[in-house]
Amino acid sequence: MQVKRIFAHNSLRNFIYFLVDEGKKTAICIDPYDSKIVLDFLKENQLSLTEIWNTHQHPDHIRGNNELIQKTDAEIRTPQAAEVRTFENGKSKVLSYLTPGHTMDHLCFHLYENEQSKALFCGDTLFHAGVGHCKLGGEPQILYQTICELKKMIPKETNLYVGHDYFETNLLFAQDINPSNSEIDSWLLRLKSHQSFVLLNFEEESKINPFLRLDCEEIRKNLHLDKNASDCEVFCSLRTKRDSW
Ligand SMILES: [Fe+2]
Repeated sequence: MQVKRIFAHNSLRNFIYFLVDEGKKTAICIDPYDSKIVLDFLKENQLSLTEIWNTHQHPDHIRGNNELIQKTDAEIRTPQAAEVRTFENGKSKVLSYLTPGHTMDHLCFHLYENEQSKALFCGDTLFHAGVGHCKLGGEPQILYQTICELKKMIPKETNLYVGHDYFETNLLFAQDINPSNSEIDSWLLRLKSHQSFVLLNFEEESKINPFLRLDCEEIRKNLHLDKNASDCEVFCSLRTKRDSW
């Protein structure tokens, strides 16, 4: 399955994703923010849409659903928690994880093809250099547990296909809270010279994302937490600080 990513050019900076089966000329769309963008992409690439998947039910992730159901033969067939789906005669597998925290029924989709090719469609659970907020039906303590689970489960070479492009703002927050981290500075420099959107794998993400680096002394100090604070306390304090940053 080929992965295609399209930026929706909206103020919320959504990404729309496609899993494309080139042999069958079919596509699955993940989180269709805009039906016109999806229909144009299908037309340009002569693909038919078979399924729509939604990571969660926030309006910007399901906005295109109804029109796409009317204008194509696609069905909403989001793989439910722990469901494994097989594509291309077993060559590609997708495993769906329940990842509560941003919303309590949020799902992430893990695409496996071979050892080199792995992708996680993480919706609003994990962003580059950040995590989703918990202000609309979420719970930061639960999101902390989800992120711990993902850290254990996700192979480090897995590419992260996040729901929104908040990378630059998240990096500036990360730099503020973890100023001695030179990896953050390098990514900021790289963003300035880069024309298109970047893609990080889990290993790269773990070096810069403060929400994955809860034992960092500098982060704890800048949050005014003592060294005995639990990782969950650090996570929730980071989330609160980021909410008003
Ligand atoms: Fe959301």
